Amino acid sequence: MEDVSPKTQMAKIRNFEKGFMATHLINIGNKVGVFDKLNEKKEEGATVADLATELGVHEPYLKFWCQTAYHFELLDCDDQGKFKLQPFLDEILGDKTHFRNYMANITMDVDLFGVGFGETHEFFKTGEKYETFAEPEISRIAYETTKNIYLAFLFMIFPKNEYLKELLDKGIKFLDIGCGDGNLIIQLANAFVNSEFVGVNPDVHGVDMAKSTISQLGLEGRVTVDSIGGEKLTYMDEFDMVSMVVTLHEIPPDIRESVVEKAYQALKSGGYLMILDFPYPSSLEDFRNPMYEYGIMDQFYETAIGTVHLNNNEQNELITKVGFKDIQRMPVGKGMFDFITATK
Ligand SMILES: C[S@@+](CC[C@H](N)C(=O)[O-])C[C@H]1O[C@@H](n2cnc3c(N)ncnc32)[C@H](O)[C@@H]1O
Repeated sequence: MEDVSPKTQMAKIRNFEKGFMATHLINIGNKVGVFDKLNEKKEEGATVADLATELGVHEPYLKFWCQTAYHFELLDCDDQGKFKLQPFLDEILGDKTHFRNYMANITMDVDLFGVGFGETHEFFKTGEKYETFAEPEISRIAYETTKNIYLAFLFMIFPKNEYLKELLDKGIKFLDIGCGDGNLIIQLANAFVNSEFVGVNPDVHGVDMAKSTISQLGLEGRVTVDSIGGEKLTYMDEFDMVSMVVTLHEIPPDIRESVVEKAYQALKSGGYLMILDFPYPSSLEDFRNPMYEYGIMDQFYETAIGTVHLNNNEQNELITKVGFKDIQRMPVGKGMFDFITATK
């Protein structure tokens, strides 16, 4: 720590407070449609009056919102009073189809974690747990944040692991444990038309969402989903690949080993286990290493749902214990994730 003074410490805390305000400001802007509108008008910009009329919002409030967004350097303004999104924020906060769009995470921060944090301080006294995915809306908000993960498989993981892509191209059976709303297996089914996909997830709302997309896309012949936890699987030597995507950390510690064991049993001999998850520190020192930021944040906001992240050694031990061999690990997305493969 360098030059620590009351002033720098106060500035640090103020900065956290400003981040809190900015996150809420972005969420409010999203809810009233300002980011969509400013993205639509990204070339010419819009005055507060125009925005208020077109969005049907209260102009005096919107004026303060725009001025504050200008303060946070989310917006710029020209000499005619037209506000515009700052460079690249049309992608990050505007166009929701852009792979870089981050609005789903802001929504999850405020609407899920913000609400949860307000209640869970009581759980810190008792160790009680929050019920995960209790309502369809919670599942919808949560899976919106992972909807682009399939792009990491197509453009970061497979190009560096050609053998996986070749197998999928040829035609294999693929099981996704903790399949969320089925997005990964649905997108992979679109990309690899010779392969068959099965997804399982104890979250019934996620499975319902998956079923509806599968039937909309007419993929019933090659993609199926079931609302069971990985610990209840009974497959034996059936699959060529089994994945767990941002799921291993979320499986309750008391059943985690049994899920990995069922994954092992489900695979054919020579089949591949693929795990994508956040790296997590193994020493206190590393809790200040920025490469673990995602894992550290995830552990914090999922504490009261019973999540306990595993570090690299703990993951390796678990995978080896159930019989997997040849564990390989590579960073994905500038270190946001570790991609781990192991063979049966
Ligand atoms: C962060 S979500 C990721 C979901 C999905 N893989 C995605 O990328 O969108 C973690 C998932 O783990 C699932 N999960 C929790 N316990 C599980 C278990 N025992 N077996 C299988 N999945 C489980 C949750 O229901 C949730 O869908």
